[in-house]
Amino acid sequence: MNYNKKSIEDIEVAGKRVLCRCDFNVPTKNGVITSDKRIVAAMPTIKYLVDHGARVILCSHMGKPKGEWKPELSLKVVAARISELLGKEVIMASDVAGEDSQAKAAALKDGDVMLLENTRYIKGETKNDPELSKALASLADVFVNDAFGTAHRAHSSTAGVADYLPAVCGYLVQKEVSIMGKALANPERPFVAILGGAKVSDKLNVINNLLEKVDTLIIGGGMAYTFLAAKGYSVGDSLLDESKIDYCKEMMAKAESKGVKLLLPIDTVVADSFPNPIDGPIETKTVPADAIPDGEQGLDIGEKTRALFADAVKNAKTVVWNGPMGVFENPTLAKGTIAMAQALADSDATTIVGGGDSAAACEQLGFADKITHISTGGGASLEFLEGLELPGIACLQDKE
Ligand code: 3PG
Repeated sequence: MNYNKKSIEDIEVAGKRVLCRCDFNVPTKNGVITSDKRIVAAMPTIKYLVDHGARVILCSHMGKPKGEWKPELSLKVVAARISELLGKEVIMASDVAGEDSQAKAAALKDGDVMLLENTRYIKGETKNDPELSKALASLADVFVNDAFGTAHRAHSSTAGVADYLPAVCGYLVQKEVSIMGKALANPERPFVAILGGAKVSDKLNVINNLLEKVDTLIIGGGMAYTFLAAKGYSVGDSLLDESKIDYCKEMMAKAESKGVKLLLPIDTVVADSFPNPIDGPIETKTVPADAIPDGEQGLDIGEKTRALFADAVKNAKTVVWNGPMGVFENPTLAKGTIAMAQALADSDATTIVGGGDSAAACEQLGFADKITHISTGGGASLEFLEGLELPGIACLQDKE
């Protein structure tokens, strides 16, 4: 896939109505935004457009309202936050591409900013309905996609609208794609990838694709137990995806034939039940990873594994990490994930954290500014690591 796309700097935006798709799918609690990371990440593009006299029409989804007007998923809170960050009013439309949006878009002056309501309030959005794409396109002269977190979705506001307007990327999409694209296409070596998270089945293609590129692949988290079982070890009551044991064997053989070092846990923190509540107190012990007793389940990597994995990171020049090493929501079981975040923070390598839980862990631990790049994409960064074409990027104009 060609990631060399035209950006906002390659087109004239002054006096133009610019529809800018962002990923404002931010977490909220009782109507309050609990992390504005994605809004902050969109600000360079928004500021550029404002400073260059564009008439800015922002849009995004939030949550999964499935075509229903759920008030708790209104983007009004996002408009307020953008307004604070920008130091100017953000005009809120009461619909997505209906009468109110049309009237407000038509009345915009150069440098004004408006925000449409949650695009997923309209059923056609997730179906990539051409009617909605056309309605969105009719609001503007140009389309800018800066929603990296939603670039893996072929929806009306992320891809469909590009059929009807000249389409370029914003700074966030440009940054995500260039940092992650370079890491995958032309990494400084040794290149180490760390994968974690619960299920092997979520990362089948990521493992397969990364084995083509890395020098060392580290596997931790819940998915490691299926690999350990594939080696013939007893995994007790640990999370096991029996249908993927052969796949794991295949991947271990592939690693060997490619000369890729595949590192699995050598010890593991176990308990006789999953913590309930998830952050509640739990009795644990550490056992060798090749002999997890019956009745016990592995819930984090052990101390020896933490040292082994950290050592591999220490010698790397490029590190990509996606997925926690254990049940990191529980302080007793967060040590493996913290150790990985610490190893990346201490490293001089180019370090990339691929969104989701591992990104949240780095941020909560205060390591964010010690990581080269923390992706704003969860699913999108995973699909990027799989080597898939992202529809929200494929639809943009190539740079000549
Ligand atoms: C995300 O949070 O990963 C993106 O905003 C995409 O959201 P979705 O998984 O609901 O499509």
